[in-house]
Amino acid sequence: MQTVRVGRVDEFEDPGRKVIAVGDMEVGVFRLDGEFFAWVNDCPHQGGPVCQGRLFNRVLEVLGTDQSSHGRTWDEDNLHIVCPWHGFEYDVRTGKHPGMPDIALTPVTVQVQNGEVHIVVE
Ligand code: FES
Repeated sequence: MQTVRVGRVDEFEDPGRKVIAVGDMEVGVFRLDGEFFAWVNDCPHQGGPVCQGRLFNRVLEVLGTDQSSHGRTWDEDNLHIVCPWHGFEYDVRTGKHPGMPDIALTPVTVQVQNGEVHIVVE
């Protein structure tokens, strides 16, 4: 196991991220609402650089009582990473695909101590 410094907490926007290389692996480290999350930069679909994708709030369809569509809105509580290759989306907090929870990013342990952010990799 290896602990790798990513940077100071105040170097991250919120929401924001850094993608770093550790040997032959890349890791995306995300800050969201003051918390940190890290994922291997390897999309489960076909290996795209998912952590470098755009960040969007989850899109929700507003349904009436008869289940008819009343348009779409943004879910302000859920931020997604959108893989730049084919558009698969993953929740920044859980790493899971919202429609197929069995498909998920590979987590990396993040440690925050004394204003410094580190990841722990094998
Ligand atoms: S490789 Fe990420 S969506 Fe296809």
